[in-house]
Amino acid sequence: MLLIRKLIRELQFHSPWRRYFFPRYSYNFSPNQLCFLTKCLSETKNVNGIIAEIGCEVGRTTIFLNKFMDENEIDKDYLAIDTFSGFVSEHVDYEVNKRNKNKRIKKHFRLNSKRWFDGTMKQNRISRVKSIQCDINNFDLSSYGPFAFVLLDVDLYIPMKKALPEIFSSLSEEGIIVVDDCDPNIDEWDGSYQAYKEFVKEKNLKFDIQYKKLGIIKK
Ligand SMILES: C[S@@+](CC[C@H](N)C(=O)[O-])C[C@H]1O[C@@H](n2cnc3c(N)ncnc32)[C@H](O)[C@@H]1O
Repeated sequence: MLLIRKLIRELQFHSPWRRYFFPRYSYNFSPNQLCFLTKCLSETKNVNGIIAEIGCEVGRTTIFLNKFMDENEIDKDYLAIDTFSGFVSEHVDYEVNKRNKNKRIKKHFRLNSKRWFDGTMKQNRISRVKSIQCDINNFDLSSYGPFAFVLLDVDLYIPMKKALPEIFSSLSEEGIIVVDDCDPNIDEWDGSYQAYKEFVKEKNLKFDIQYKKLGIIKK
């Protein structure tokens, strides 16, 4: 029996679909960046408010952070927001027409669904996550506050620009916002970085980039 199973595995190893059968690193964050996010969760454990991940895609980071919360008894609600169908076309048009980005960016993250996301949470025995399907530009984020910790990860300038002030106004004292994609060297997603820079300047906050691309905002 073991011999047959080994043979099947060997066939999988030589097939063009090898990556689907063998482990691969599939996070959008590096190990140091993920550890930093867990540090933010620990630091805000006793801060009033919920946790939100805005732009959660298929839930990779959501699972990781929620398992960390279980292990460390961080008892907070976790809001996961996404269109669950990729970028909003007007936001992509802005990147292409006003910010000279390649129109292929519109193809990212389209293969997704809220039902799949919810099922993935269930399969991982995570029950504290509430998912909301919306364009954050048409959604009143402040109605879900106060926030203790927010991971803002929607990549493009327009939704970042809209979400930042709204989240900040509902962020508790000692709360933390982490803005992903604040890496000046990655041209494709520098809309996040632009929105981050403008926001910290406007509010006279500390400009603080950690682990190459995580823009930090604290209250
Ligand atoms: C980089 S992915 C998020 C990755 C996720 N945080 C993780 O760590 O695995 C960006 C997500 O933002 C979502 N998104 C982009 N614009 C949005 C908008 N206006 N409203 C809601 N979600 C949006 C996309 O659908 C996509 O799933």
